Amino acid sequence: MAGGVTGGGSATWSDRFEQGLHPAIERFNASIGFDITLLQEDLDGSIAHARMLANCGVIASDEAELLCTGLEQIRAEAEAGRFQPGLEDEDVHFAVERKLIALLGPVGKKLHTGRSRNDQVGTDLRLWLRRRLDELDPQIQGFQTALLKQARDHRSTLIPGYTHLQRAQPVCLAHHLLAYVEMLERDRQRLQDVRKRVNWSPLGAAALAGTPVPIDRRSTAQALGFDGIYANSLDAVSDRDFTVEFSAAASLLMVHLSRLAEEVIFWASEECGFVRLTDRCATGSSLMPQKKNPDVPELVRGKCGRVFGHLQGLLTMIKGLPLAYNKDFQEDKEALFDVVSTTKQCLEAMTILIEEGLSFRPDRLEAAVGSDFSNATDVADYLVARQVPFREAYQIVGAVVKQCLSEGLLLRDLSLERWQQFHPAIEVDLYEALAPRQVVAARTSEGGTGFTRVEEQLALWSERLGFTAQ
Ligand code: ARG
Repeated sequence: MAGGVTGGGSATWSDRFEQGLHPAIERFNASIGFDITLLQEDLDGSIAHARMLANCGVIASDEAELLCTGLEQIRAEAEAGRFQPGLEDEDVHFAVERKLIALLGPVGKKLHTGRSRNDQVGTDLRLWLRRRLDELDPQIQGFQTALLKQARDHRSTLIPGYTHLQRAQPVCLAHHLLAYVEMLERDRQRLQDVRKRVNWSPLGAAALAGTPVPIDRRSTAQALGFDGIYANSLDAVSDRDFTVEFSAAASLLMVHLSRLAEEVIFWASEECGFVRLTDRCATGSSLMPQKKNPDVPELVRGKCGRVFGHLQGLLTMIKGLPLAYNKDFQEDKEALFDVVSTTKQCLEAMTILIEEGLSFRPDRLEAAVGSDFSNATDVADYLVARQVPFREAYQIVGAVVKQCLSEGLLLRDLSLERWQQFHPAIEVDLYEALAPRQVVAARTSEGGTGFTRVEEQLALWSERLGFTAQ
């Protein structure tokens, strides 16, 4: 019977049933509320499937044309806001099929030949994620470019470098920012690698075992831009590895965003004062009129929780599932959608934050690097260059620091005579070696913060990111 209205149910599968679904169970079961997100991909997959059925002689070519026209009409109606499936449609796949039947009559009923919702949903999800991956890649590059621009502007600015969040040695600010560009490059590579395993077609695996219908899986795979087809139909409909891989890669990307967010929060604190947040990216307090809050980086840091949570959720959802399809898989969608949208939103917000949300304060940075003992190692290196064994030099400088601390002095405040009491090899050129700018410049080992090394890296990244200064 048309539309399967026998018995109490209105669902596409309801002919076999005597009674309709309990309304609460209908709500519980339905995924249409969120899998409508897959509409474009569902239409694309169905169009490829219909053409293939005609090419294989399973349906007539004018039938395939009708199906494709109907599917495009659904796309147009959706764009115009006139395709609004309800709970009774259960999911996006049924919603489209029903609508097609409503539009075309009996021909519409031919579309689902030789496939099942199990291979269909897998196809849709992979197509959808592939598109999002192709958006993420340039988005990450855009963020890298924002960092690169700041780095180029701060090629000679210094900032304290920390270990254990204790002042360690001054570094070039560009060097610090380029560290994040490197992390993000690994994120890009990881996502490109995930894409390789996303891009396999499960279409035509049917429910779980393949189909006796003479279909051509390779032609739908090719039409949809997949690199190949799953070799095993059971694996095809029950593989969700790619959702885990993607969420893991996205989690690491979030880790990197969050670490930078944490640094910005620290830099913007009054205690530190290395950056000023611009009005475009900071918010005020409802109570304390003097406040300017770093909500953007705080939200990025906070949103890590949901992304890592989805990764855990997906792993747990999959781990006990026997072959092949299980309804548990329906739970993959909201997780994946949220990982994608959260990651993209955070990338966008952090890009804006770095581009126009903060300005570094060279005065504060200059004062910071000039007011501590982060040049102590350089005194030891100075002595080493004058044939003092490193461990001995280290001990001498330790004694100097102790003395200075007790007198409230910095290393540069000690007179040459007093320095020479600690070691006779010390000459007046020590003061130059102690200057923060010289401390940074001296670190010319490959990958180090020395200005010449940083310039090399700036040139390299400018080329890689196709950045040309206006
Ligand atoms: N909405 C379902 C999902 O997201 C589609 C596949 C349903 N398949 C089935 N055999 N019930 O997984």
